[in-house]
Amino acid sequence: MSGPRRALLTLPLVLATGVLGFPGHAAAATDYQAESATISQGVVESNHTGFTGTGFVNYDNVSGSFVEWTVNAANAGSTTLSFRFANGTTTNRPMDITVNGGLTGNDVSFAGTGNWDTWATATITVNLDAGSNTVRATAVTANGGPNVDRLTVGDAAPPPPAGMAAAPYEYFGWGSPQRPTDVMTATGLKWFTLAFMLSDGGCNPAWDGSRTLTGGVDQTNINAIRNAGGDVIVSFGGWSGDKLGEKCSSASALAGAYQKVINAYRLKAIDIDIENTEFGSGTVRQRVVDALKIVKANNPGLVTMITFGTTPTGPDSTGQDLIRKGAAAGLANDVWVVMPFDFGGHSGSMGQASVNALEGLKNAVKPAYGYSDDDAYRHIGVSSMNGRTDEADETVTTTDFQTILSYARQHHLARFAFWSINRDRQCGSGGDPDACSGISQSAYAFTRIVVQYSQDLASPVPALP
Ligand code: GCU
Repeated sequence: MSGPRRALLTLPLVLATGVLGFPGHAAAATDYQAESATISQGVVESNHTGFTGTGFVNYDNVSGSFVEWTVNAANAGSTTLSFRFANGTTTNRPMDITVNGGLTGNDVSFAGTGNWDTWATATITVNLDAGSNTVRATAVTANGGPNVDRLTVGDAAPPPPAGMAAAPYEYFGWGSPQRPTDVMTATGLKWFTLAFMLSDGGCNPAWDGSRTLTGGVDQTNINAIRNAGGDVIVSFGGWSGDKLGEKCSSASALAGAYQKVINAYRLKAIDIDIENTEFGSGTVRQRVVDALKIVKANNPGLVTMITFGTTPTGPDSTGQDLIRKGAAAGLANDVWVVMPFDFGGHSGSMGQASVNALEGLKNAVKPAYGYSDDDAYRHIGVSSMNGRTDEADETVTTTDFQTILSYARQHHLARFAFWSINRDRQCGSGGDPDACSGISQSAYAFTRIVVQYSQDLASPVPALP
């Protein structure tokens, strides 16, 4: 896909040589069993079902009884503590949570879970020091605490909403955008990926490089989407224009630019659509990876997606390098996404080429991250292009989308998106290729297929690795 006034047609060789089960989020979580921690005035028991490890701690109906864990943090900073507990009564059993001796959670609620075999999770966000930390959960009423099974550090944000996996691109500054709430009403779509966040000339974000974050059409539309029960992913990059990855000269500066956008809209997810020279530079690829790592650490639960071009059989050497850089940096990127079009030559249908490209992507992500096949599929996704692409020998039909849908369903892909909603209608005479598909179609024919994927995912939410 490409940015405003793209010049992709003139540059296919650059791409050719250079190109949701929903996955996890935040850094990898670590479990610490209660029965292995330091226990004061409580006892280890195993007389109820559903615990993990070898048992749980019964706080023995004493105020002041506690469990204290020693936990490790790779980096100083904010993370989540999730306590897995059961409370078979109907009375809350509040506890104080201290970290390294300081109170961080006063009277944290551990409400009734229905019975002693039913476990729930209470989560708080705290700051940990780098290295070793103590976390203590102390009962503050005469009932004692709940039964506590374990503490999980990190990665405890709620799973991303199912609809996030099905978020096609729309752009509001060009390409005769439809009213997003009209799209929602017509198709049932909930999530949009909004394009494109670019540099305003420096290391500062602006829509298409010029529109402000707040107070303009983009803000108005985001508010309207949310008021209608939807939400947005903001996409940084695209083919054209100045990229933040290039205009920001360090990973921390780039992270700061991403953060401004995350803060402006309280985003749950961002997409880095890395193309053209931003993709082509090893220095910039590394900067993007390092910046995302910072952003991940500072925004627990934020979903990150990295989108890039591909050959018909999977990522080229640049894409492979990007994935390896992510893995080497320990970047817990949620979704690696390829754009299976603008190939500069392919055989067979675009649907089959998309599947082949996704298999290649899975085969690149799997060894880099040491995932199982299943986990690898849950960390990849696709962003197609509906109708005529930028290349004369490519037309992506609704049949091709059905092929992609089947594959996404089979493997629980984390993303099925496309470029673009603006193009999801038939052209009139002299149609602008950024505003119509170039093929005979009904309005929103492609969006409707993507929406089917989000409906599959709506219940239950796909498992997180
Ligand atoms: C019951 C229950 C225990 C629990 C206790 C409590 O005895 O079996 O597992 O710890 O109630 O009130 O805390």
